[in-house]
Amino acid sequence: LPIATRLTERLGIAHPVLLAPMGGVAGGRLAAAVSNAGGLGLIGGGYGDRSWLEAELRAAGNARIGCGFITWSLNERPELLDLVLDHKPAAIFLSFDDPARYARRVADAGALLICQVQSRRDAQAALDCGAGMLVAQGGEAGGHSGQRATMPLVPEIADLLAARAPDTLLCAAGGIADGRGLAAALVLGADGVVIGSRFWASEEALVPPGLQSAAMTASGDATLKTRSTDIVRHRYWPERFQIRVLRNAFTDRWHGREDALQQALDTEAPSFQAAMAAGDATHASPIVGEAVGLLRSVEPAAAILERIVAEAEGLLTSAARHVQPA
Ligand SMILES: Cc1cc2nc3c(=O)[nH]c(=O)nc-3n(C[C@H](O)[C@H](O)[C@H](O)COP(=O)(O)O)c2cc1C
Repeated sequence: LPIATRLTERLGIAHPVLLAPMGGVAGGRLAAAVSNAGGLGLIGGGYGDRSWLEAELRAAGNARIGCGFITWSLNERPELLDLVLDHKPAAIFLSFDDPARYARRVADAGALLICQVQSRRDAQAALDCGAGMLVAQGGEAGGHSGQRATMPLVPEIADLLAARAPDTLLCAAGGIADGRGLAAALVLGADGVVIGSRFWASEEALVPPGLQSAAMTASGDATLKTRSTDIVRHRYWPERFQIRVLRNAFTDRWHGREDALQQALDTEAPSFQAAMAAGDATHASPIVGEAVGLLRSVEPAAAILERIVAEAEGLLTSAARHVQPA
């Protein structure tokens, strides 16, 4: 049986799965592939680069997609929101700062405002500005996240919504990469999931193949949260958010020695950038979460989505049989 939730009904999509708006990684082709397969694809606007965004919005063609931004970075280029809203996106996904100043513009454009939150306090701020969907993001996630874990954060936010804003939708993010994760998220009280790392390892993702290959053999034990990867890229994140990446020679050398890294940027920044471009996973960091231990092959996004959904359907159907009274 297909999984129908308030999310699939409200968005008019077949499956309760959203592509995480991974900055620079989730381009138009990946977003369109996820939407065309029955989920909702979100372009990763990331730190906000106008010409990249224009090209990726074009690459999405006629697919119904949304777009995400790193909110504190959007604050420096707020006009980029209008560029995206002109394309009539289904949703705008904001994360990592107070979304209040953008809520009205998103609503006036007829797009769903999705706010990714890392704590109960963030959730309250998102509700105060009228978000239509919250994404409870645990620190297992690939990329930046806060301190909470997905397993207890999702039901806590589900309870908050039930009490305060029962019409607001809820998705879970962080550590979900297969049907078990999707089924678990629904049981925890979410209406759907936001998936990043699993789609990072898709054919359509804008990731150098060398970085993807390195992730295929890694365990979830091999990730860490660090500031070193931001410092070397000149990204100045608020203290409470750190980035989860795969450990490698770069993080072994610089994690915990960020002050020394700061002094060595003249040489370290260009060499990190070159390694990134070359897909050299020893010196550039694959940005993935703990779910990396569940990734074993790079596949088309549609195949990934279909398998996750079929597996969750099977699990939920057999769980329902188990709990039926005799
Ligand atoms: C490569 C990568 C880049 C990301 N970039 C962003 C971003 O620009 N904005 C954002 O809100 N979240 C970003 N995220 C976090 C995702 O929105 C999401 O919370 C996360 O991927 C979910 O956990 P998972 O990776 O275990 O699926 C990124 C995640 C990854 C893996």
